Amino acid sequence: MKKFHITTFGCQMNKHDSERMAGLLTDIGYAQAENADDAQILIFNTCTVREHAEDRFFGNLNNLRSRKKSEPDLIIAVGGCVAQDEKELIFKKAPHVDIVFGTLNMPNLGHMIESVERRRESICEIADKIEIMPTTMPSLREEAYHAWIPIIIGCNNFCSYCIVPYTRGREASRTLEDIHAEVERLISDGVIEITLLGQNVNSYGRDLYGESSFARLLTDLNGIAGLRRIRFTTSHPKDLTDDIIDAIAHGDKICEHIHLPVQAGSNTVLKVMNRKYTKEKYLETVEKIYEAIPGVSLTTDIMVGYPGETEEDFLHTLDIVEKARYDSAFTFIFSPREGTPAANMENRVTADVKADRFDRLIKLQNRISLEKNKELVGRDIEVFIEGVSKKNRGVLTGRTRTNKIVNF
Ligand code: SAH
Ligand code: SF4
Ligand code: F3S
Repeated sequence: MKKFHITTFGCQMNKHDSERMAGLLTDIGYAQAENADDAQILIFNTCTVREHAEDRFFGNLNNLRSRKKSEPDLIIAVGGCVAQDEKELIFKKAPHVDIVFGTLNMPNLGHMIESVERRRESICEIADKIEIMPTTMPSLREEAYHAWIPIIIGCNNFCSYCIVPYTRGREASRTLEDIHAEVERLISDGVIEITLLGQNVNSYGRDLYGESSFARLLTDLNGIAGLRRIRFTTSHPKDLTDDIIDAIAHGDKICEHIHLPVQAGSNTVLKVMNRKYTKEKYLETVEKIYEAIPGVSLTTDIMVGYPGETEEDFLHTLDIVEKARYDSAFTFIFSPREGTPAANMENRVTADVKADRFDRLIKLQNRISLEKNKELVGRDIEVFIEGVSKKNRGVLTGRTRTNKIVNF
């Protein structure tokens, strides 16, 4: 039996897409290898959100040159967001690649592999419109008790720095019935925790039902017997409406955790980023969340060094972090992505200034994270055990409903 191995870069959506590819390939008779050295088919599921992610992938690919020479039957396939966006560059930089396939072409991966096995000719398939929802593919889950559930794919927001709308296409939601049925199936397979996925889960259903139906979906899933925890990511602040906050507050299975990427604190920067909210509006939403959902944890994504960001702009970022009191944050330095409006903006911030702002931001967030964690000392909290700690075999590790990792 031929074996495949998938290397995954990027976000949870990619992680889950890899589970679907593994499901499809095992269904048609291939087996998943423990590591890449044992596999005859190597698949890369790539990310291009920042330059660093893309560089790591090209480094990996380059290391395979000599192996492909000594093993000409080895099949190398590249999917994901770099494939969707830069097919020419991949074949140019790495002529030893056999298959390049776009984010919407995953359902055809089996056929592409079979075709290369027969004809030994490279293949490139990049669709720009969705034909088959990837969620119709079988899935081979990495975890027994937890499942990722894409509810909407694509993004319509076009934040001016972001490549995702170009690599994932326009928003397409699954029907309420389709999602409900998948969750029921997963529960009979032992799953007790799910994470609903979308670039912006808050706009779930808009393309299907004419209005956001995320609150309806949450409330519906909350009624499924056997399910213990419902998580979701990511929420765009401009679309986090009162009915959604209400649904989270009232659903006993819906976890008290909201990932609400802020990106920046200055209204000037938010405007050029095309985020469609102001600092004041964002903080109003945060206040509503803290009031409506007791014990909620709030996390975020923040970027420093956007073109034109002044010291004064950056001080607004520090101020919004101080006021929103995030439990934790993913922090990034702006990385220009070709094809996005921000890539051509002038007034680039120098590397020194970016590094200095990044440092100050992390120091502030670390202080707040520690303060918030200290509030929990002495409390009894339900933890869903995920396994044995990697660092210490004598310690178990798990997550609270608020998505904090606990070692105990
Ligand atoms: N759809 C999600 C996640 C998008 S990508 C959302 O809207 O929140 C995850 C994070 O990467 C973003 O929130 C942003 O903070 C960061 N990011 C995206 N493009 C970037 C770029 N060009 N440079 C630096 N960080 C970027
Ligand atoms: Fe990118 Fe903005 Fe869409 Fe998120 S909402 S994926 S940051 S364009
Ligand atoms: Fe990266 Fe694509 Fe996700 S660019 S962050 S893998 S949507």
